[in-house]
Amino acid sequence: MDKVKTGIIGLGSMGTAHMNSIGQLNNSVVTAVCDIDPERLATVRDRKDIQTFTDPDKFFAEGDMEAVVVATPHYDHPPLGVKALESGRHLLVEKPVGVHKKMVQPLLDAIAAHPGQVAAIMFNQRTIPAHRKIKQLIDNGELGKITRVNWIISDWFRSQTYYNSGGWRATWAGEGGGVLLNQCPHQLDLMQWFFGMPKRVLAMGTIAKYHDIEVEDELTALLEYPDGATGVFVASTGEAPGTNRLEITCDRGKLVYEGGKLQFSRNEIPVSKFSAETELRFGTPDCWDVTIPAAGTNPTQHRDVLDNFFNVIREGGKLIAPLLEGIRSLELGNAMLMAALQNREVTLPIDGDAFETMLEKLITSSTSRKKAFTGKLNTDEFNTSF
Ligand SMILES: NC(=O)c1ccc[n+]([C@@H]2O[C@H](COP(=O)([O-])OP(=O)(O)OC[C@H]3O[C@@H](n4cnc5c(N)ncnc54)[C@H](O)[C@@H]3O)[C@@H](O)[C@H]2O)c1
Repeated sequence: MDKVKTGIIGLGSMGTAHMNSIGQLNNSVVTAVCDIDPERLATVRDRKDIQTFTDPDKFFAEGDMEAVVVATPHYDHPPLGVKALESGRHLLVEKPVGVHKKMVQPLLDAIAAHPGQVAAIMFNQRTIPAHRKIKQLIDNGELGKITRVNWIISDWFRSQTYYNSGGWRATWAGEGGGVLLNQCPHQLDLMQWFFGMPKRVLAMGTIAKYHDIEVEDELTALLEYPDGATGVFVASTGEAPGTNRLEITCDRGKLVYEGGKLQFSRNEIPVSKFSAETELRFGTPDCWDVTIPAAGTNPTQHRDVLDNFFNVIREGGKLIAPLLEGIRSLELGNAMLMAALQNREVTLPIDGDAFETMLEKLITSSTSRKKAFTGKLNTDEFNTSF
């Protein structure tokens, strides 16, 4: 197979990691890189086989590449993605697809306008065997009807040094959000991948509870799905050791994913049937505890998504994570943030204009906000402000 010539834009932590991963693949080769910070290009300066650019427009105009990997901060994902597609390249975008729903629309339009080009997103956690197994158990009906889901994902601990490491990080203007937008896109994607989209969201969030930052570092959301199932989503970057526990309550019992282990407490008789037919007043169905073998991690997860992307370009087939699906986790996170900041129920699909207006207000007031509002957001002042 001819190696796919690939350009990477944004050569920071992830761009560099992707360059190293591509170096281990036999279906792609990095031929161009672009970073607006010339210092980031130092490591590739001596490579005759790699073009280097500090100007994104030149990168798209002159880069010798068939595919582009976008690994810049989030705000630039949609505009750079559009440029990649419009210049005829295949596209893989880092998560999240953008900062808010409305700004992603031009990218969705560009994907629709270029159906012959492959467009993927780096949802590497979809490759984790335990996540794939959960998806399989749901899709093949093994769990029966799902009635409640509960995901505590508070093991995304980040230190103040992490937040200080990039000027764009954890600011409304530079990043556009906190734990929902940076760390949790993976879990929000898995939530929608497993359970679909909820129809309404309530939430409480806290800005700067644990860190000196502008954005939320803790949030708890309540979800309601169209079929009546309910959900709780808890996210934090301030807790250590933190928790990663997904509990799925279903007609066939209960599936718990925690500590990388998948445990199915399987009712011998579905609980709805048992409840309708038993003559017992207090009994419960017999239940088998099954440990499902599926690893809770995948050390090559990013490389696997890249490998899949390049294989689909050359040979067709199914993407692990189509870029079009990236909008769902973003919209879910937008809904949670809006529900928390405005202290109200948010129905989905969300109003993209309303979210953008809220974000613009957060950006313009962010300097004073950092000092004035370190605490819970659900105050009357916030209700009237946003
Ligand atoms: N999939 C994952 O597991 C994962 C993990 C970490 C980060 N990410 C995502 O990767 C993206 C980058 O994060 P990072 O940690 O690598 O950030 P980073 O700050 O280390 O790197 C970003 C780089 O982009 C460059 N840049 C900024 N704007 C640019 C532009 N317009 N054109 C060209 N270069 C530009 C910066 O100079 C910097 O070198 C983020 O969107 C983040 O959410 C994904």
